[in-house]
Amino acid sequence: MATMLERIRTILSATFIHYEEVAEVLAVAITARKNCILWGPAGHAKSAMVGAVIQGLGLTADTFVQSFGEGLDEATLWGGLDFQKLEDEKVLEYHPERSFLAARIGVFEEIFDAPASVLLALKDTLTAGCLRKGAQQFPMATQVVIGLTNREPQEIADLGPAAQALVERFPLQLRVAWPAYTAADYAAMYGKAPSALNGFTPILAEVIARAVAGGQFVSPRTAMYAREAVIGRAAARGAAKVEKEDLGVLRFVPGLEKLGATMAQEVEGAMARAAAAEALAGFERRLAEVMAEMGDTPIKALQTVKRLTVLESEAASLAVPDDLTKRRDALRQGVGQNITLARRRAEDLTRI
Ligand SMILES: Nc1ncnc2c1ncn2[C@@H]1O[C@H](COP(=O)(O)OP(=O)(O)OP(=O)(O)O)[C@@H](O)[C@H]1O
Ligand SMILES: [Mg+2]
Repeated sequence: MATMLERIRTILSATFIHYEEVAEVLAVAITARKNCILWGPAGHAKSAMVGAVIQGLGLTADTFVQSFGEGLDEATLWGGLDFQKLEDEKVLEYHPERSFLAARIGVFEEIFDAPASVLLALKDTLTAGCLRKGAQQFPMATQVVIGLTNREPQEIADLGPAAQALVERFPLQLRVAWPAYTAADYAAMYGKAPSALNGFTPILAEVIARAVAGGQFVSPRTAMYAREAVIGRAAARGAAKVEKEDLGVLRFVPGLEKLGATMAQEVEGAMARAAAAEALAGFERRLAEVMAEMGDTPIKALQTVKRLTVLESEAASLAVPDDLTKRRDALRQGVGQNITLARRRAEDLTRI
């Protein structure tokens, strides 16, 4: 029987990257019934990961997702006003059985965006473990609350004692962000959701990583939108394959508009690099093949020498961008060494 941590890891690893700490925090929160907050920059799958875990664990029916926008009022938080009761008995009561209070798990989206009065009421109820409003009392069935927000809990706590008391009701807190935003990170994310575009994703990942390195942050979510837009552009012109021209659509993706202008150039550079890397890989494969086929007669060994010489002259004209020159030079040297090796082999075999 898999542990909670193992189950959550398995669920998250199917579609997400950089999920390890989220898995740990959620496993502890759910197992030990400790409220937690996942906070951090937008578009890092806080909502998506929690949603996937709830669904993957089969807890959807036990979960109540509450959106805590500026428009949230207390009545909504407690399930809405009981109008029947108001009309019949002239008393103000709520429908807590329709609120998060009746669910084992509460997921609070954008928790700190709600008005202060609502947060204060929430704090009181979380502290008491029960909704108390006049004559109405409703015990809280909620075992764990998972709060999601872009705002830093410590900053909220600094707003005052009430805010601090609320933040303290969440003993587990994790900042969700990536350790790095390199082409490899974006490419790994794309790899989790394969698509027809896959041949093109390394280039898109590289273009995005360059934008980030240049000071223009691109969130993982925006990067996903970018890919969808590019695929959509190819589909819209009836193509089965993405071409360079389709990347122009990125100028319509919020957060990538600026990239649109330099896109053609960026893509050309990225494509040249990808093509050079591909050529090198092909070359390395051929070299390995030639060496593997070296026979055990002098003639066969000399044939290998001949084939290697062809490779050698090709390697000499192999043009690659700066970051690949080391690999190309190593390859050239390898071919040269193998030629010497094959010649010696031919000589040895002749002497026998
Ligand atoms: N680490 C990741 N691995 C895979 N996909 C990711 C990752 N981070 C973000 N994404 C993609 O971005 C999408 C958007 O994430 P989501 O809306 O859940 O982010 P969020 O952190 O809740 O943002 P916000 O703070 O704006 O609410 C995900 O559904 C997924 O496609
Ligand atoms: Mg979210």
